[in-house]
Amino acid sequence: MTKLSLDRILQSQGFGTRNTCRQLIRQGEVSIDGVVMDDERAVFDTAHLQFTLFDEVWLYREHVYIALNKPGGIECSRRPSHHPSVMTLLPDVFRQREVQAIGRLDHDTTGLLLLTDDGAFNHRMSSPKHHVPKRYLATTAEPITAELIEALLDGVQLHDEPAPLAAVECVQVTGRQLEMVLAQGKYHQVKRMLAAAGNHCAALQRISIGDLRLEALGLAEGEWCYLEENQLALLN
Ligand code: URA
Repeated sequence: MTKLSLDRILQSQGFGTRNTCRQLIRQGEVSIDGVVMDDERAVFDTAHLQFTLFDEVWLYREHVYIALNKPGGIECSRRPSHHPSVMTLLPDVFRQREVQAIGRLDHDTTGLLLLTDDGAFNHRMSSPKHHVPKRYLATTAEPITAELIEALLDGVQLHDEPAPLAAVECVQVTGRQLEMVLAQGKYHQVKRMLAAAGNHCAALQRISIGDLRLEALGLAEGEWCYLEENQLALLN
């Protein structure tokens, strides 16, 4: 059981510095079970704790795990260089909690992006040893041929890679669309593999990570949701 004072609880959830949180509490902005809590030193068990702040009900979360349906024209970095950051699509509390993307998608790649403030989880998921398969829907500039699919499955040599990289799975969907599953997460991997196999990637969407499917989350582009235990279990 973890017991924390109310000001520490608010701070841990991304509502600002300890002082800012104390002010919010003193101003009567926080209530629990419909009762205003204006004592910042009041202590609560954080398990399943819900509180209301700014007319919104918040569930205490030690860490947050988020899925976002990333639109195009957005960078995954918190300090982007050419396009708005993915953080602009999320509530400010996540910025305060120092949420980071788990791996990156290119600015023009759309689809499933995970973010978290759990550094150990992020590290584990991003590690090259953790071969969680990622499924992409790629639209190609040139028509897809049987040779292209074969080359992607056999493995293609990328510049700077010691050995050829192969797709775990590769299936044609339409004349210019294919689904490709990768076990690694190398820089621009899908685009570079398609180019090395003699085609060109015109559009790219990540449609699943492990067994977590973007479609099952029902998120429109730009929308996000929390991931709960059962959904996190699909990532292994
Ligand atoms: N492969 C790419 O080329 N780009 C991405 O954003 C993800 C995988």
